[in-house]
Amino acid sequence: MYRTHTCGQLNLSDAGKTVTLSGWVQVVRDKGFMIYIDLRDRYGITQLILDEKLSSPELLTAARSLGREFVIQATGLVVERESKNDKIPTGEIEVQVSVLDILNAAKTPPFTVVEDTDGGDDLRMKYRYLDLRRAPLQRNLIFRSNLALETRKYLADKGFIEVETPNLIKSTPEGARDFVVPSRMNEGQFYALPQSPQTFKQILMVAGYDRYFQIVKCFRDEDLRADRQPEFTQIDCEMSFVHQEDILSTFEGLTKHLFKTTLNIDLQDFPRMQYDEAMRLYGSDKPDIRFGMEFVEMTEMVQGKGFPVFDNAEAVIGICAKGAASYTRKQLDELTEWLRRPQIGATGLVYMRVEADGNCKSSVDKFYDANELNAWKEAFAAEPGDLVLVLCGGLEKTRKQLGELRLEMGSRLGLRDPKVFAPLWVLDFPLLEWDEEAERFFAMHHPFTSPKKEQIGEMLNGNHETMKNLRADAYDLVLNGVEIGGGSIRIHDRELQSKNFKLLGFTPEQAEEQFGFLLGAFEYGAPPHGGIAFGFDRLCAVMSGYNSIRDFIAFPKNNQGRDMMIDAPSAIDSEQLKELSLQIKPGDK
Ligand code: AMO
Repeated sequence: MYRTHTCGQLNLSDAGKTVTLSGWVQVVRDKGFMIYIDLRDRYGITQLILDEKLSSPELLTAARSLGREFVIQATGLVVERESKNDKIPTGEIEVQVSVLDILNAAKTPPFTVVEDTDGGDDLRMKYRYLDLRRAPLQRNLIFRSNLALETRKYLADKGFIEVETPNLIKSTPEGARDFVVPSRMNEGQFYALPQSPQTFKQILMVAGYDRYFQIVKCFRDEDLRADRQPEFTQIDCEMSFVHQEDILSTFEGLTKHLFKTTLNIDLQDFPRMQYDEAMRLYGSDKPDIRFGMEFVEMTEMVQGKGFPVFDNAEAVIGICAKGAASYTRKQLDELTEWLRRPQIGATGLVYMRVEADGNCKSSVDKFYDANELNAWKEAFAAEPGDLVLVLCGGLEKTRKQLGELRLEMGSRLGLRDPKVFAPLWVLDFPLLEWDEEAERFFAMHHPFTSPKKEQIGEMLNGNHETMKNLRADAYDLVLNGVEIGGGSIRIHDRELQSKNFKLLGFTPEQAEEQFGFLLGAFEYGAPPHGGIAFGFDRLCAVMSGYNSIRDFIAFPKNNQGRDMMIDAPSAIDSEQLKELSLQIKPGDK
């Protein structure tokens, strides 16, 4: 028997027992007369102790030969500690070792396997198995496992059935880029890995399965960020004979259930906001509503006073940062530089301080007198000590830039506590988005999303301008400014779906070639249906107060899309290439 207990189990009530533990050596502290060993497994850490006076020379030699991360087995007596450690559950006891076996030696690890490691990102990715031994990652993966379990419990209880859909599917031009897989048996042809099981879950509705879910890997070849991985996991769902309201209440229920069962947090009913309002008040379709700092549109108020920058702008919009009037000139210059970086691209920043006596001082005093600045103050309900920050330019761009500034100020002012949770439904997204450069519409959510019922006629018969105003039964769940999930009521009628493909620039032949199977299925009795998918990795991260989803994925990719541990992607040999009918030109690597 390797162990009688785990390293997280023993406490004072075990004193006097002889026990056997197995695990990894976290650290050895050799005090000469006494040797202390911290023994770790996934359950915790137990202190082992060897007294020079009580132990045989062989035992002491063995203990002194131990290095970090050696795997050992130790048997001994549980005793009460003299100096207790109240930070760990086993901190009141220690084990006086009488037998010590080295099960496996270990090379010195390239970084310390402790709560706060000294390892850099690359090293930790390369030696992921060592990083995964650390308590924070173990906690994260255990949390993830619990969240998956509770998801299954909740959905099964609501009558959902879990169905697996294929990973080798057909490449489609919509959405992100596909990862493709060459087919050996079908020369010159490729499968694509699914960006989501979207069409399959709709087909399952046509097939009468009524309530489907799957915790499923999805693959997207897109630029990576902290909250994006090339392969990630969705809680993917679809329901038949439902309206938007049924889906919102089912998945609000799921989110509440997950918070309650894993974090013991009771979430109140989720507020709802229209897409247009989110854009107007926060410049974002995923506003962080843990704090206010809503936009105030100032365009009319500030134009015609001789300040050309404002006069020439389509929009002048500001926010009020409470208590930030103490920002120094240097801090404001630094903020302006931050806004000017290409990632944000603002041209400048106008500000106004409300001083302790209520007087206003702005960076554009030359153009606006005290009365006018007082009107600004009123528009923002600004108080002494507040700082008003104003951006201007094209409407969409300015909203986006101010949205970034709002988040930055929220962070700087400590308004984005990761332990506070502010969920929000964003509703009524536009159906289509016009792309000036490509001169075509793109689906804002995806091509299977239905316009609002009352707009179906307009969609079938309207002109180009009408199409821009179509709204969809499409919704996102936002949590602390992160898009956790998105879904929609789908089109279930062949004519409407064909029209949508047409608007998206597909010829009837292309639509048939790409999606004929779905259009065909719609001719055999498709029920009204709709669904949603949550980003599971994102949900884990936000619920745990993390920014990066990598910390919740056992084996993630780095920002270049590489798995540093197995060193993928990699070249394949010429035999394999030949078999797959893939030619490599001379000179190519
Ligand atoms: P959508 O494309 O909005 O919808 O994706 C659903 C959710 O998946 C998460 N997500 C990601 N997470 C990590 N890395 C990525 N690269 C990544 N991309 C997306 C987000 C997002 O909200 N089939 C539809 C859903 C539906 O209509 O039912 C879909 O995939 O949290």
